[in-house]
Amino acid sequence: MRMRGKFLTFEGVDGAGKTTQCDAVAQALAARGVAFVRTREPGGTPLGEELRGLLLHRAMEPITEALLMFAARREHIAAVIEPALARGQWVLCDRFTDASYAYQGGGRGIDTTRLDTLAQWVQGALQPDLTVLADVAPELAQARRARVREADRFEAEALEFFLRVRAAYRARAQAEPQRFIVIDGARSPDAVTAEILQRLEPWLAAQR
Ligand code: TYD
Repeated sequence: MRMRGKFLTFEGVDGAGKTTQCDAVAQALAARGVAFVRTREPGGTPLGEELRGLLLHRAMEPITEALLMFAARREHIAAVIEPALARGQWVLCDRFTDASYAYQGGGRGIDTTRLDTLAQWVQGALQPDLTVLADVAPELAQARRARVREADRFEAEALEFFLRVRAAYRARAQAEPQRFIVIDGARSPDAVTAEILQRLEPWLAAQR
């Protein structure tokens, strides 16, 4: 039977550099001949991408927002993530459930026990094997974002919101140190990539 693929997720406040790291890891895996699927949340399926359009641009109530995030996630897990892992492919996902705890929990103030219930329902035992948290001061992330693009509904939130998002991310990383690698998003991207790849090395060696 083929070995199950590894599930890697990339998290951080908007503008922290998680997408750059996801790109770099994708390149490194391709160079080593590891089969992988790269995807994102919210999104990753045709239905999920439609929900993403609503989530990023349409005003809605926080509970609605949380439910739609998990609805998109369910579709994504069933149609993309689980089948890929079962085929032995790695999955690189730009954001996953930790983002719901950070943004809907920390940012919007939704009770964590409610999110636990949704997570249990939607993903059962599925957890990332490794989560890269790009951690950077929200002030810096905000300045970076402002240089490159127009704000969506989340990015338009005040600094206070992002301070809560960051605190929630860090609390999750502290609670599960074996799953998370927390990187200082203010460091040079290449040094950060090298650190992530070092962490992946045992898994890569097992594939050879
Ligand atoms: P992202 O992909 O980082 O946006 P971009 O393409 O602009 O880099 O994420 C989209 C937004 O969705 C981001 O602001 C965080 C938010 N989000 C949540 O609030 N909860 C979630 O569960 C997820 C997956 C994302």
